[in-house]
Amino acid sequence: MFNKEIYIERREELKKSVKSGLLLLLGNGEASVNYADNAYAFRQDSSFIYYVGLDTPNLAYILDIENDKEYLLGDELTIDDIIWMGNLPSLKDRAAKVGIETVLPFSQLSKLITTPQKLHYLKPYRYRNILILSELLGEKPDAIATGFSVELTKAIIKMRLIKSPEELIELEDAGETGYAMHIVAMKMCQPGVSEREIAGMIEGLAISKGTRVSFPTILSMNGQTLHNHDHSGILEPGRLMLCDAGAENVNYYASDFTRTTAVGGEYSQKQKDIHNIVAKALNDSIALAKPRITYKSVHRNAYKVVFEGLRDLGLTKGDTEEALNAGAPALFMPHGLGHAMGLDVHDMENLGETLVGYDDEIQRDTLFGYKSLRFGKRLEPGHVLTVEPGIYFVPQLIDKWKAEKINTEFINFDKLKDYYDFGGIRLEDDILITENGCRLVYEKRLPVTTEEIEKAVKS
Ligand code: GLY
Repeated sequence: MFNKEIYIERREELKKSVKSGLLLLLGNGEASVNYADNAYAFRQDSSFIYYVGLDTPNLAYILDIENDKEYLLGDELTIDDIIWMGNLPSLKDRAAKVGIETVLPFSQLSKLITTPQKLHYLKPYRYRNILILSELLGEKPDAIATGFSVELTKAIIKMRLIKSPEELIELEDAGETGYAMHIVAMKMCQPGVSEREIAGMIEGLAISKGTRVSFPTILSMNGQTLHNHDHSGILEPGRLMLCDAGAENVNYYASDFTRTTAVGGEYSQKQKDIHNIVAKALNDSIALAKPRITYKSVHRNAYKVVFEGLRDLGLTKGDTEEALNAGAPALFMPHGLGHAMGLDVHDMENLGETLVGYDDEIQRDTLFGYKSLRFGKRLEPGHVLTVEPGIYFVPQLIDKWKAEKINTEFINFDKLKDYYDFGGIRLEDDILITENGCRLVYEKRLPVTTEEIEKAVKS
C-alpha cells in the first residue's frame, strides 16, 4: 500500500475528470473453487486497489462528486471471521490509512445510489459484481454489462496508463521475481525433465517471494500454441521450450517475460536462424519505441523484420510492403506485438481492450494478425508495455492458408514442410516509455541471444 496522500490525490484527479454524478467502484468478493469455504486466492479489483488501496473482500467505494462526499462500504469482521481467518484493524482504521473518513455497512450501498444523480460504474467481469449491480439498479445482468460508464472508464484508463515513480518501483520488484523465475526455467531445461516440474518450480518461486504468478504460466515444447498451459510433456533433446511467465508482486504489479530455450542448451542452426530473427524483431522494436510514435507502427515494423528474415531463409518471398499490406507475416506471428502492463498483466483489459489500446485517432485493424494487437495508440512517457514478437509454425494454419490459397504470392508453402515439428519462438521484454525513448522496466535483462541462453542453461 502507498501512503494515503497518493490515494487522495488519485481520487481528486478522478473527481475532476468525471466532473459530476455518483461514482461507484466495486471491490471483489471471494470466489469459491468447489465449495463455499474453499476459495481461490483472493485478488482485489485493480481499479479498486488503485484508488482505494484496500485488498480485503466485499468492499465498495462511492464518490458523490456534486456533494463532495466519499464513502467506504463494508462490514466489520464477525467473531467467526476472527476465529477462523484472524483479526484485522477495524475498517474505520483501515479506511483512514487511505484517507477515507466515512465507513458505512455494505447494506447501505442501495440507499446511497438512490439519488437522482447519474451512477458511473465500470464494466463488471465477475458474476458476483454483475449480480450486485443487477439488484441495485433493477436491471437484467445483460444490461449491466453494457450500461457501464464510458466516461469513468476513459478517465481511469487515462490515469492508470501513465505509471508514477512509486508504481515503477513495484513494477521493477515484479520484474526481479520474473527474472529469477526465468533463470530457474533455463537452468532446468534439460532432457528428461518434465514441463510440469519446471512450471511448478517457477510458480513456487513466485509464491515463495510472497507473490504469485501474474497469469497462468505458459511453458511447453509446443510453443506454436500461443497460450499453452499444458505442461504434460517431458523435455526431449533437439526441441525448444517456450516459457512465458511473470510474477505479480505483493502490491499487485505485474511482470511478463518470454524466453525460448533449446533443451539441454544447444540450439541447432535451424533454431538459431529463427531465434535470431525474433531477437532482431525484439531489439528493433525496443529501439523504435518512443513518445509520439504509434505502437501500431512498431508492430508493423516487427512484421517487416519477421517477413524479411524468413525471406532470407527462403520461407517467404515477394515485396515487403505488399506482403505487409496483405497481412502475410501473420501466418508466422498471428498475435500482436504487446500490451499495456501494470496492476494487470494485460493492463485494464477488463475495462475494454480497445478503449485501453486505441482512440479516435488510432483505430484497431481488422486484418488477421494486426487485429490481435491489443495496444496500437501513440506512446507517451510513463506507458509500460510488453514487447513480444514471435515466429510460430502452426501446421493447421499453414495447411489452411495453402488450401485456401491465402497469400500464396508471399509464402513458400513447400519449404514450410520442414518446419511442421519446429514449434515456436517468442521473446518478450517489458519496457517503460521515457521522455526520449524507452528502457527496460527491470533493467537487468534476461539472456536473450542464443549464446547467452546456452550459457545460462549450462551455468
Ligand atoms: N504473456 C502472456 C500474454 O501476454 O498473453
